[in-house]
Amino acid sequence: MAETYKLIDHIYDVVVVGAGGAGLRASVGLAEAGLSTANITKVYPTRSHTVAAQGGIAATLGNMGEDDWRWHMYDTVKGGDYLGDQDAIEYMTREAVSAVIELEHYGVPFSRTEEGKIYQRPFGGMTTHFGEGTAHRTCAAADRTGHAMLHSLYQQSLKHHVEFYYEYFAIDLLMENGVCRGVIAWDLASGTLHRFLAQQTILATGGYGRAYFSCTSAHTCTGDGNGMVLRAGLPLEDMEFVQFHPTGIYGAGCLITEGARGEGGYLTNSQGERFMERYAPHAKDLASRDVVSRAITLEIREGRGVGQEKDHVFLNLMHLGPEVLHARLPGISETARIFAGVDVSKQPIPVLPTVHYNMGGIPTNYHGEAMTLKGGNPDAEIPGLMAVGEAACVSVHGGNRLGSNSLLDLVVFGRAAAKRCADKVKKGGTERNFPKEASEKIIERFDKLRYANGSESTAAIRLRMQKVMQSDAAVFRTAKTLEEGRKKLAEVAKSLENVRVSDRSLIWNSDLVETFELANLLACATVTMAGAINRTESRGAHAREDYPERDDKKWMKHTLAWLVDKGGVKLDYRPVHSFTLTKEIEPFPPKKRVY
Ligand code: FUM
Repeated sequence: MAETYKLIDHIYDVVVVGAGGAGLRASVGLAEAGLSTANITKVYPTRSHTVAAQGGIAATLGNMGEDDWRWHMYDTVKGGDYLGDQDAIEYMTREAVSAVIELEHYGVPFSRTEEGKIYQRPFGGMTTHFGEGTAHRTCAAADRTGHAMLHSLYQQSLKHHVEFYYEYFAIDLLMENGVCRGVIAWDLASGTLHRFLAQQTILATGGYGRAYFSCTSAHTCTGDGNGMVLRAGLPLEDMEFVQFHPTGIYGAGCLITEGARGEGGYLTNSQGERFMERYAPHAKDLASRDVVSRAITLEIREGRGVGQEKDHVFLNLMHLGPEVLHARLPGISETARIFAGVDVSKQPIPVLPTVHYNMGGIPTNYHGEAMTLKGGNPDAEIPGLMAVGEAACVSVHGGNRLGSNSLLDLVVFGRAAAKRCADKVKKGGTERNFPKEASEKIIERFDKLRYANGSESTAAIRLRMQKVMQSDAAVFRTAKTLEEGRKKLAEVAKSLENVRVSDRSLIWNSDLVETFELANLLACATVTMAGAINRTESRGAHAREDYPERDDKKWMKHTLAWLVDKGGVKLDYRPVHSFTLTKEIEPFPPKKRVY
């Protein structure tokens, strides 16, 4: 029987969960539109993971050479291995320029060209003339672009009087008759529980990189929104597509931006060979991330890795010279010194592919409205629920995201979600009847985990999950590794029933927070593994060695995955949107990839 908890009630027009780039951009737009807006965030906004984004944000400003949104659209469709929804990709690439100019006006301190324009660097897979030339498309604030953006967006949200609930942990969605009515959250500082009702709940909770042992993601990236959606009996989309960034620091996992290769850095193996020339003769070190990550993995497998264990490769920046390193790459120079003990002006950085981004997430349309499969309709809206940013699957990144399209996705779809709410949410119109049954269910689960008295610590279970994901749902996959992974992961997930939470208090109980986070991670990991076993082709970041070809006939479709009873997973599909929004451009038909 659950202890009796007093719920503190709040009523808003819209509730946003998460204060990274997407959550903040949505909140600013909502407040600007005069909607009463609560932002619930488990960390102080400027500590959100967007702060760690380095290389930049893509937009066809054309400040440093010719560019066109159609080329950006083509690159994004192709980079995603044709799994992306082309209506959404068209929307994002067309909106990119105005979104970046808006950021400039918000105060983002972008690096500048000699003429004072926003500086733009080349990034992997970003081309001109539909693959012919190299685009300078990624707008950068040195190598601290996410940091700069997050701070400016937070300032804007304060200016527009967004009401923040800082260090509140969202536990679950309040679902009633298939409608999302809001969310229950726990105030970590006071130990009180809060019930938020709203006409729209926007999940902007980020990715779930921490399901893996080595990742560039912050410890807070635990798929909380995705976990809530699965527990609400709703599906996630394309979770088998997990991006490995080619250059995480060996051992530490910290990100070394792709911007380092954009500025002219290159990879070498134990023979000092620039091996990317063999794998991608055209794009070389600036091939898309899936290609570079696979190439590094193959070099290591074939015995050409560097170091004592021959288990990583080198990223060389020495030739760039102190001026470029200082002006364009100061952040990673410091990171390399601290985490690899390397002076980048004299030594190469030891690097290894590291989990970086989840292409999958909560299915949404390009307005940010969450969708599910219902009565044969693959795009059926879930009333009251929206999602933006890495938590969502719009899907603009398809099977593989291009670098610098993530910061863009955050602001474009954060803004789109706010616009949609401005159109459909009635100011002051939130119904005041509080869903009783849904609230009780959430409290019961909260109480059960709070008093969990098993024999395994949260940290021990988490570590086992991370090791399974790292070894069995890796850069390369086979039915054998994935089946083994599924079995091991099911055992790990089951052991959550035997978890021990040793702190029973309600105030700053990090043991309990981590247990809720672990439950969310395990839910995400379970559907990731199931989707990866099921998809018998290689596409984007999903590289099946037993099915090396892309199979458009059978697999040009999105996976939908539901968690069902006893840790099972139900899978179904929705078609890819192979159509555009306007007549200005035709959809791109799939082509064989040439690197
Ligand atoms: O490499 C980077 O700077 C990462 C950028 C991104 O993931 O978009």
